Amino acid sequence: MKGFKLKQNVKRRRAVTNPIERANRKDDETFTKEHLCPSSSTWAEWINPKTQDKFSLSLTGSGKLSNEDLDACFRLVEETSRADYESSSVGWKPSKKITEMKSPELRYILVKDITGAVRGFTSLMPTYEEGEPVVYCYEIHLKPELQGTGLGRTLMEFLESVAINTPPIEKVMLTCFLSNQKAFAFYKKLGFEKDEISPEPRKLRFGKEFIPDYVIMSKIVKKQQPAPAKDGSSIGRVLAREIEHINPTRTIPEAITKVLSGRQSTTTVVAETDGDSAQTLSGGAIAGIVIGSIAGRITRSRRLHTTTALRDIPEKRMATGHAPVILIIIIVRAVHRS
Ligand SMILES: CC(C)(COP(=O)(O)OP(=O)(O)OC[C@H]1O[C@@H](n2cnc3c(N)ncnc32)[C@H](O)[C@@H]1OP(=O)(O)O)[C@@H](O)C(=O)NCCC(=O)NCCS
Repeated sequence: MKGFKLKQNVKRRRAVTNPIERANRKDDETFTKEHLCPSSSTWAEWINPKTQDKFSLSLTGSGKLSNEDLDACFRLVEETSRADYESSSVGWKPSKKITEMKSPELRYILVKDITGAVRGFTSLMPTYEEGEPVVYCYEIHLKPELQGTGLGRTLMEFLESVAINTPPIEKVMLTCFLSNQKAFAFYKKLGFEKDEISPEPRKLRFGKEFIPDYVIMSKIVKKQQPAPAKDGSSIGRVLAREIEHINPTRTIPEAITKVLSGRQSTTTVVAETDGDSAQTLSGGAIAGIVIGSIAGRITRSRRLHTTTALRDIPEKRMATGHAPVILIIIIVRAVHRS
């Protein structure tokens, strides 16, 4: 009976096909080799350029973090950022913070001095944020004497390395209190920008207003490869080819180019000049472009949000991807002929 049950369990165990989940299940040594710095074996040491003091770097999953190291990390957060938490709507809640710091898939890069004491750390997690695969930076904190030494940049580059080496991730993402202007300037210097999912101020009921006290920032570390014509971004390219046949010669209004630019890919419509005879795109052609772009965005967004649900039936995705292409080409050609 026991043996039978065991067999049943083995049979039912789900194969891990999700690349993020697969990465998160790896032990620290494998994760370091395959996702953090596959081509470097000297990453584990950092020398303070100001004092020449040596520090060790190590990667540890939250489950393997000693109580002493976890406590040291927590104290560091408290030392550098308690005031920011207290002045925010989140508030400073130590037990909630510690629970978050123990999140199972969180990994820490610890910076320790020669006595083994934690002097800085960052914590990261490959995850999905609103359907998009990202490396989320949960924390980055350095003791005051190590700030301004280039260590922050070094640690953030490791997160970028994880993003680059964990397809399909293309972004590092983080949250920064707006009150922490120094950190905000640091992230900007590193190339982070406000992400499109960052909350905006909005009107609430009874004349109240929601004004966010934090910003979600991100940095794209790897451009998406052009895919064959089965997703939204390719629809844009097919449309651009069709439009070239119409030979448009007018600059497309900014409002329309905004709609044309996809979430992470940009469709450039080349407008050629034909001597002095400036022609214009007809309203119908512009409508065709806009419809095409919107359809592209919809199919792309559907693809993003159904990565998990549809991953076993690619035919279904192909079918939904091709229909709008055909429809849009028909519209553009009809407009051209008219
Ligand atoms: C934020 C923090 C991690 C940055 O690390 P750091 O080691 O001080 O920063 P670096 O020395 O690596 O700076 C990297 C670049 O950012 C720039 N930079 C850093 N702080 C800056 C600031 N306040 N304004 C403008 N530029 C800044 C540096 O000039 C440097 O540019 P360069 O490489 O072109 O010379 C660190 O200061 C810290 O631990 N602060 C307290 C904790 C904290 O606020 N954490 C963030 C929570 S969201």
